[in-house]
Amino acid sequence: MKVLVIGGGGREHALAWKLKQSPRVDALFIAPGNPGTASLGTNVPIKATDIEKLAQFAVENRIDLTVVGPETPLVLGIVDEFQRRGLRAWGPSKAAATLEGSKVAMKEFLRRHNIPTAQFKIFNKAADAHAYIDELDGPSVVKCDGLAAGKGVTVARNAAEAHDAILRIMEKNEFGKEAGRNVVIEEVLKGEELSVFAFCDGRNAVLLDYCQDHKQVRDGDEGPNTGGMGAFSPVPGLLKPRDEDEMIRRILVPTMSGLVHEGRPYVGILYMGLMITDAGPKVIEYNVRFGDPECQALMMRLDTDLVEVCEACIAGHLDQVSLDWKDGVSICVTMAAKDYPSDAYARDLPITGLDSTEAQRAMVFHAGTGMGGGRLLSTGGRVLSVCALGATLDDARAQAYAACDAIQYEGKHFRRDIGKRREARKAR
Ligand code: AMP
Ligand code: GLY
Repeated sequence: MKVLVIGGGGREHALAWKLKQSPRVDALFIAPGNPGTASLGTNVPIKATDIEKLAQFAVENRIDLTVVGPETPLVLGIVDEFQRRGLRAWGPSKAAATLEGSKVAMKEFLRRHNIPTAQFKIFNKAADAHAYIDELDGPSVVKCDGLAAGKGVTVARNAAEAHDAILRIMEKNEFGKEAGRNVVIEEVLKGEELSVFAFCDGRNAVLLDYCQDHKQVRDGDEGPNTGGMGAFSPVPGLLKPRDEDEMIRRILVPTMSGLVHEGRPYVGILYMGLMITDAGPKVIEYNVRFGDPECQALMMRLDTDLVEVCEACIAGHLDQVSLDWKDGVSICVTMAAKDYPSDAYARDLPITGLDSTEAQRAMVFHAGTGMGGGRLLSTGGRVLSVCALGATLDDARAQAYAACDAIQYEGKHFRRDIGKRREARKAR
């Protein structure tokens, strides 16, 4: 069969790599892909958001299955458009994807279905939002409504920071007019964050093994938030059995049934960003796609044919699928560009060392790379996702970090402590 992957980051390179392993895949296309995916299949120079062109390509090339990586095409309704043309696309419909596309819609959904989340209020006038902050007079979380590439959320330590966030979202429209029309102000949740993923076919859901991201840029969770500096899987002992039971019963099940009830059953991968608080797990956010770099760490361990899983999601027979996982521990270390996560990160720097023995031993997914003058260049803030699967966490770390040390570009940086939280937990 012919498979098309949409997107061009580390997540999509990992998805393409995993799909390619299926004996059922004869031809693989990636739009737009990156220099890493070029070695797996054919890169197609169409942007992930150009739904019309992507659909045309899929029709003309008789694509049997399209796997959508990033959220933007999903929120724009790519799955609906493909369906309209009789094409099979894996991912949620536009209506289901609003769970990620609008924080207001997400919070209202959580409230309607009584799913545990941070207490919140929604404002459509800046003056009212400012007045509420004065009333709270303490820490709060301020979120702009629409997609903001992960930058629309401010965890404000005090009223001044919250006022500033409201100003940027609603008055300066830093995230665009539409995204800044409404603001969500919520309580600060305390606890440990955990990403939980489930494949969904509308009615059935299958949980994936646990995987943990490392959001801050520096070791020890210091520095500003990023898209994700590394991940590892599994994460044993993170959820106590009681929390796990509650997560399924009070979050996953009502999310699925709530969406069915509202006539927008969820198909694809559901990403639940949770805070494990003293009062049990609560939803921070939903995402309607795989996490990046969580996907890379998970694909290293998934032993089930991903084509079969995607087809079962679309056909609604996920109840007949069980997921197998490779033994051992996988990790993914994000190699970032100088000054990332600031927008002014260094660009277009030549990358060397990918052919070294150390890098060859690891699995290096391309995240933000491009070709220029015949050379491999860094193009994004997150440049490479360096992954390894080891018998133990230490084995996996040793392999991945040997590769990170062997790969060179000016100003490279990465966290040295990916997976170490788990050791700290064991020692406690
Ligand atoms: P979001 O885009 O909603 O996931 O928010 C981005 C990040 O902000 C999350 O991963 C959390 O680290 C943090 N965050 C969001 N909401 C809260 C909250 N209510 N309490 C504490 N931290 C939060
Ligand atoms: N790693 C976090 C995300 O993909 O949103």
